[in-house]
Amino acid sequence: MLGLGIESSCDDTGFAIVDDQHRVLVSEVASQIDCHRVFGGVVPEIAAREHLQVLVPLYQKTLEAARLSIEDIDYIAVTSGPGLVGSLLVGVSFAKGLALATGKPLVPVDHVHGHIHGAFLDTAEPVEAKFPALALVVSGGHTNLYWMETPIHFSLLASTIDDACGESFDKVAKMLGMEYPGGAKIESWAKKGDPKKYLMPVMMKDRSQLQFSYSGLKTHVVYLLQRLQQEQGGVLSEATIADVCAAFQEEALGQLIRKTKLALAKYPTAKSLLVAGGVAASGRLRERVAQELKIPAFFPQRAYCMDNAAMIAAYGGFLFRTQGADAFRDLSWDVYSRYRPQLGQGA
Ligand code: KG4
Ligand code: ZN
Repeated sequence: MLGLGIESSCDDTGFAIVDDQHRVLVSEVASQIDCHRVFGGVVPEIAAREHLQVLVPLYQKTLEAARLSIEDIDYIAVTSGPGLVGSLLVGVSFAKGLALATGKPLVPVDHVHGHIHGAFLDTAEPVEAKFPALALVVSGGHTNLYWMETPIHFSLLASTIDDACGESFDKVAKMLGMEYPGGAKIESWAKKGDPKKYLMPVMMKDRSQLQFSYSGLKTHVVYLLQRLQQEQGGVLSEATIADVCAAFQEEALGQLIRKTKLALAKYPTAKSLLVAGGVAASGRLRERVAQELKIPAFFPQRAYCMDNAAMIAAYGGFLFRTQGADAFRDLSWDVYSRYRPQLGQGA
């Protein structure tokens, strides 16, 4: 069984073909980072227009690379939300047109849930054996912790009350004059720094509280940088930048570790921890999870941490196999911009 995935929720256009063993035959991603970099973040209208330009050629390229035709595909899966409405509408309208023209079932997929399925792509181990599981999605837009009884049941345990974790990396990077997105750049500066040189506020200190918060940490870094700049005559030394990056990164990731530890204590029957989303590409996060959390942890390969369509096709495949083709004939559904937990599956 083969599924075609389509992703266009933010600033990456993706197409992928995945089989029912979550093996990736092809995954194509067209990044728009160069179009948005000059603005220091994603501009929604530009994003939607860029998707419109690359969508058709990227679709053709994907089928050609797999040496397949659309007739060989059993189902189509597309991101229906959350994301930028204009961007979503481009991908979903294309997907609906394709489904209508070919008679293929169309599976609407939640992007945040899809990220978790990135952890199973191109792995030989059986997915079901990892459940029940705790799952952490840490990206530029989301910091969500879930209890998952099965690969398709997501119960939201915690989310951020303000900024997302990746967003805080991007904002701190911007303050330091680094290009968007800043997570990987902060990580490489942090390698040269002393994480203990500057004290960072411990966010969401209440140990019993299962929630995330990043805006206080970001604000602390704003004031710290203002003070250091004054002290250093306007231009920060490389050593200072490295030390600030290291201290910020340790607390930003430390909060993820603390809250996941708390969830593990509350849900001791979890067989595994799944970590996904852009921040899951962090080598330091992988290191700390391995050292500090006593549970088998699974991360996507780095290419599948960032937005891609293979994770959408793979998760769509689970929904398709569970619910059957007839559940996905109806095309009268809408996109949604904000994260929307499924009914009866979490707060
Ligand atoms: O999942 P993703 O591609 O997009 C969203 O759906 O948001 O994640 C992108 C985010 C950005 O905020 C980026 O700065 C962050 O992932 N990121 C990192 C690292 N690599 C990417 N954050 C921390 N450390 C990294 N090494
Ligand atoms: Zn994402």
